[in-house]
Amino acid sequence: MIYGIGTDICDVRRIRTSLERHGERFARRILADGEFATWQARSRRWPERGVRYIATRFSAKEAFSKAIGLGMRLPMSWALCEIAKRPSGQPVIVLHGGLKDWFEAQGLVAHVTVTDETDYAASFVVVEKKEDPTP
Ligand SMILES: CC(C)(COP(=O)(O)OP(=O)(O)OC[C@H]1O[C@@H](n2cnc3c(N)ncnc32)[C@H](O)[C@@H]1OP(=O)(O)O)[C@@H](O)C(=O)NCCC(=O)NCCS
Repeated sequence: MIYGIGTDICDVRRIRTSLERHGERFARRILADGEFATWQARSRRWPERGVRYIATRFSAKEAFSKAIGLGMRLPMSWALCEIAKRPSGQPVIVLHGGLKDWFEAQGLVAHVTVTDETDYAASFVVVEKKEDPTP
């Protein structure tokens, strides 16, 4: 059954400003380790792609935080919620640490979709609760 849904829209210009102001420290706070490595590689090649990468991750993490009903409150945290990619390009949520433990203990499964245009990135997350097999 559906446990929760969440959506978020992120202004790419605000992300650009935060990056200009705080540099790598901002990326470190928002991104999981795997995402940080991807961000560094993209930013090196084309800084604007790095900005958009953080903007889509930012919106997906906020959407996820709403779908689980916690907002950005523990065990939810930016760096423990990774938006990875399947080989097909489809985004997938990979959780870490205490957030992963909490999520799995409740039998939850998440689905995410992201999009971006010139000035905005947006995401939508659906969280399902697995049916209890015992009647
Ligand atoms: C959920 C959260 C990430 C949204 O942050 P935001 O970018 O400032 O705001 P957005 O416009 O994207 O979303 C706001 C909407 O999220 C929804 N929302 C708020 N808390 C939520 C929660 N725990 N679960 C799901 N949705 C939530 C509400 O509908 C809210 O709109 P509303 O205030 O008009 O009803 C943020 O509010 C948060 O982290 N909340 C948890 C911590 C908290 O509650 N702090 C304040 C205590 S008073």
